[in-house]
Amino acid sequence: MSILRLEDLKQYSDRLRTRDGTALNVRFVEPRDTEEFQHYVRSLSTRSRYNRFFGAISELPQGLLHDFLRVGEGERFTIVATMMVDGFEAIVAEARYAFHAETATLEFGLSVDDRWHGHGIATALMKNLECRAAALGAEHMFGDTLRSNDAMVSLARKAGFAFVNHPDDWKLVRFDKEISVAPKDIPCASWRLAALSRQADSPSATA
Ligand SMILES: CC(C)(COP(=O)(O)OP(=O)(O)OC[C@H]1O[C@@H](n2cnc3c(N)ncnc32)[C@H](O)[C@@H]1OP(=O)(O)O)[C@@H](O)C(=O)NCCC(=O)NCCS
Repeated sequence: MSILRLEDLKQYSDRLRTRDGTALNVRFVEPRDTEEFQHYVRSLSTRSRYNRFFGAISELPQGLLHDFLRVGEGERFTIVATMMVDGFEAIVAEARYAFHAETATLEFGLSVDDRWHGHGIATALMKNLECRAAALGAEHMFGDTLRSNDAMVSLARKAGFAFVNHPDDWKLVRFDKEISVAPKDIPCASWRLAALSRQADSPSATA
């Protein structure tokens, strides 16, 4: 898949809610987010950054920042969850995912602004990711986390993931789940668009 066209990105936005009903907009990251995205990473706690990036970084190195902002390249995508704060669209969570067509799997990692932990944002984002995985044709989704990351381990367990050893690194554990989203109750715009474009491509739709 090529890089998604910038003018098309907005149509892939989804609306999610925190546990107490606060609205979040989930959309692909855009070039205009570069500063705000780096600001988001810098303002994570040291522990959250370590848990997310598996290393002691204070911000994203330029190369990685650049990769995060290239949506669709190499079947890799970055989404941000934002909310309006004093008239300004602030990033409160992010997720990066990659579709591996050869294994029909979607790999992902995510983080939530420390001030918003415990509000159900990661739970909502993971449901949205499951929908995106289904839209891409993935049969499983998985991620890796440090064994010491109790919050992620508990979150993944609650979301129905099973755990296996990481193939290369004993400090990590892999969580994996079969995709169970049915086409009829898909809650993400990317799936609806994929489904619509499939209908448009089918011979019956054009007959
Ligand atoms: C892990 C993380 C994404 C969870 O985000 P969150 O929005 O706070 O999670 P939710 O509010 O949806 O919590 C869902 C469940 O996760 C578990 N959980 C979340 N925070 C927890 C904590 N501090 N300790 C133990 N369990 C926790 C609980 O089971 C919780 O369910 P409950 O609220 O009914 O108890 C967040 O802590 C984070 O961003 N951490 C830093 C980055 C990171 O570790 N990323 C994972 C690497 S891929």
